[in-house]
Amino acid sequence: MTATPHGSPARYGRVLLKLSGEALLGSRQYGVDPLMVRDIAAQVAAGREGGVQVAIVVGGGNIFRGLAASAAGMDRATGDYMGMLATVMNGLALQDGLEQAGCPTRVMSAIAMNEICEPYIRRRAVRHLEKGRVVVLVAGTGNPYFTTDTAATLRAVELSAEVILKATRVDGVYDADPETHPDATRFSEIDYTAVLSRRLQALDATAVSLAMDNGMPIVVFDMTQPGNITRAVAGERIGTLIRSGDDE
Ligand code: GTP
Repeated sequence: MTATPHGSPARYGRVLLKLSGEALLGSRQYGVDPLMVRDIAAQVAAGREGGVQVAIVVGGGNIFRGLAASAAGMDRATGDYMGMLATVMNGLALQDGLEQAGCPTRVMSAIAMNEICEPYIRRRAVRHLEKGRVVVLVAGTGNPYFTTDTAATLRAVELSAEVILKATRVDGVYDADPETHPDATRFSEIDYTAVLSRRLQALDATAVSLAMDNGMPIVVFDMTQPGNITRAVAGERIGTLIRSGDDE
């Protein structure tokens, strides 16, 4: 196993896994594919076997995209709130899958809905993690205009995670969109400032700057490759590492 971003030889202590809503689509066009949830849950369960504490932030784009709705004329804030509600459904699906895979899981929401899940309370989330529960964080930051990438960064910083593991459909950060530019080259490591100044589309700028200001490394990796979530959680070096060049 290669070293983690902080140079520790073995494995992470605590990670924040960011799953987009699309990650749950599987072969569907819309909603949640239970087979996909089961696969992700099994991968998380395998990755945390060495005792890694795992918090997950999940998006909602498989059910509702606030930005797309606002582009079509809906009030942006309203669209974003609808997107936040979508993340709650995804979080409950993940909890179900994770518990079936043998991982005790707590869902915590940034928007109070106590009949459905716990409210997000930082110190309580930390206790859950310390007790070996997976914590699924839903409803983003609870605020419109913030993406779930930004929510993931905020929670990673608050919960003192060592790294953000961003699961996507591409195997890292490229100098151009690899889906439209076949000759694009992938970075194995890149500085936050380069991601921002070159406007690389890996994460939104708010998330990257928050991570940069707090020295939070981000690993962008391809979750469509079987086993990659397990590898990422277990600390294997895959995808692209975004961090400050000064940390080398
Ligand atoms: P410890 O206190 O560390 O043992 O944590 P715990 O989560 O096992 O205990 P707690 O009594 O807080 O919660 C028991 C169950 O109720 C867990 O499944 C929680 O996720 C759930 N739970 C706790 N608070 C809330 C809440 O405000 N709303 C909902 N819907 N469920 C909650």
